[in-house]
Amino acid sequence: MKTEQLFLGESYRESITRAANLLKSGKTVAIPTETVYGLAASAYDEKAIKKVFLAKGRPQDNPLIVHISDFNMLYDVAKDIPDAAKICAEKFWPGPLTMVFNKTGKTADCVSAGLDTVAVRMPSNPIALDIIKTSDIPLAAPSANISGSPSPTTAFHVKNDLDGKIDAIVFGNECDVGVESTVISFCCEPPRLLRPGAVTVEELREIIPDLTVDSAVLSEPKKDIKVESPGMKYKHYSPKTQSYLVEGDSKQFIEFINSQENSLAVCFIEESKEINIPKLTYGSLNDESSLAKEVFSVLRRVDSFGNEKVFIHAPSKTGVGLAVYNRLIRAAGFKVIKL
Ligand code: TXA
Ligand code: MG
Repeated sequence: MKTEQLFLGESYRESITRAANLLKSGKTVAIPTETVYGLAASAYDEKAIKKVFLAKGRPQDNPLIVHISDFNMLYDVAKDIPDAAKICAEKFWPGPLTMVFNKTGKTADCVSAGLDTVAVRMPSNPIALDIIKTSDIPLAAPSANISGSPSPTTAFHVKNDLDGKIDAIVFGNECDVGVESTVISFCCEPPRLLRPGAVTVEELREIIPDLTVDSAVLSEPKKDIKVESPGMKYKHYSPKTQSYLVEGDSKQFIEFINSQENSLAVCFIEESKEINIPKLTYGSLNDESSLAKEVFSVLRRVDSFGNEKVFIHAPSKTGVGLAVYNRLIRAAGFKVIKL
């Protein structure tokens, strides 16, 4: 199939209308959001959703997030919305927070991959919002990458992974946040964080003091146990190069890394000039948001160095750092070196 490229700028309105019309007629369109690019399809159209799973090579048991453009749309797809979720929506929507509720049953079955629940978010990227509004349907959209590879933060990442496999790509800017949305479930008591993102645990606990953090966030889920967020059980984001996450302060990391052979370092900007082996920087030690923004594009570049191993300096597990750590520990296949 030929993948249409929809550019913005002067042809903005035309491209948005085209994207919306494609989506209404059951096609798959990659769209920018503030977190990562998403591969969108009508959440009401079973056939269209199947195309999304097929294009990504996504496991059938991993449900999709439904994207809405105004709060009332939530009631089309979800029910039993608790007050705490309404407060979260007021504070964090539009934005990088996904909330899991009981479903109304209007969305196609495969959106929820057999669960009775549905994950919903209202993105803040104005292009994403405009496309949802113009199509006037909730859009199911997983990240627009081949399953297992790093999530796409530019339209070019999407083109690399999915050209020829989807109907169109909307060429927006690089994503602001860089890691996927925070996912919390209101279908358990107390509510639980399933995936960390730019809306932090600390911020959420101001509204939900007893919010728990799923054990799959920081450790490898046990094979035989049912995981609450199916996406968390898969190996993800991994370069082909043997990858390790390294915990320790800058002094320890620099000393460790300079004694490694045939290896690549992924480090903070502040450490770069003291590292004597090939290296990639992924933002500043003191700015977790900069790490989130860079992490996936850096992971996409690792293999081009052709080294045997890559050692990635781990961020802190607080604030947005927790989201970056969560993606990196998966990229490293849970191999952690503690200095
Ligand atoms: O930022 C984002 O969330 C991006 C952009 C495109 O919006 N989307 C995204 O989708 O990251 P995806 O499919 O890559 O990740 C969806 C995550 C998975 O971990 C999945 O298991 C979880 O959300 N999820 C979806 N529906 C769920 C449900 N009903 N219950 C529990 N987890 C669910
Ligand atoms: Mg994904």
